[in-house]
Amino acid sequence: MKHLWVCRLMLVLVLLLSGSERAESKKYLRCELTRVLVENYNFDKTFLSNWICLVEHESYLDTTKITLNKNDSKNYGLFQINSKDYCAEGRKGGQCNMKCEDFSNDDIGDDIACARMIQEREGFKYWKGWDRFCRNPQNLPNLRVACNLRSLSPLRTPRSFFYVSG
Ligand SMILES: *[C@@H]1O[C@H](CO)[C@@H](O)[C@H](O)[C@H]1NC(C)=O
Repeated sequence: MKHLWVCRLMLVLVLLLSGSERAESKKYLRCELTRVLVENYNFDKTFLSNWICLVEHESYLDTTKITLNKNDSKNYGLFQINSKDYCAEGRKGGQCNMKCEDFSNDDIGDDIACARMIQEREGFKYWKGWDRFCRNPQNLPNLRVACNLRSLSPLRTPRSFFYVSG
């Protein structure tokens, strides 16, 4: 009787652990990310194809991607944010005052906040993936055609985006 109870408990634990692991990682599809960026994060449609192109070449749309660089720094997450400038490892830090490890889970709200700050300060050229593959507008995906961009609009009023942290 007691043995059975322990078995059930272990089964529940295993299910919980595997469930949370699944929720931690996410690989987006192009149009899925396009929709999320417009609807949930109020991205300007004018530059959206630059963002999508950038993310496709930096992380292949994988929220868990971590890249080790030759100079010992690492790039984290969807936007491959670098641990030597905009975030810090193991603690909050860098110019975004954020923890790099937080950029490699499936919560992309913090990644986006930091990526927007980087883009405002340095432009898209901060990202080598953008510089190499997306600088020429002819290489940008046509989201209007591919993802029906025109039909998408933000789900909330712009004001409420201000309060969204994650
Ligand atoms: C380290 O290398 C990465 C990737 O090449 C680069 O983005 C970053 O700016 C470099 N950091 C420093 C401090 O040299």
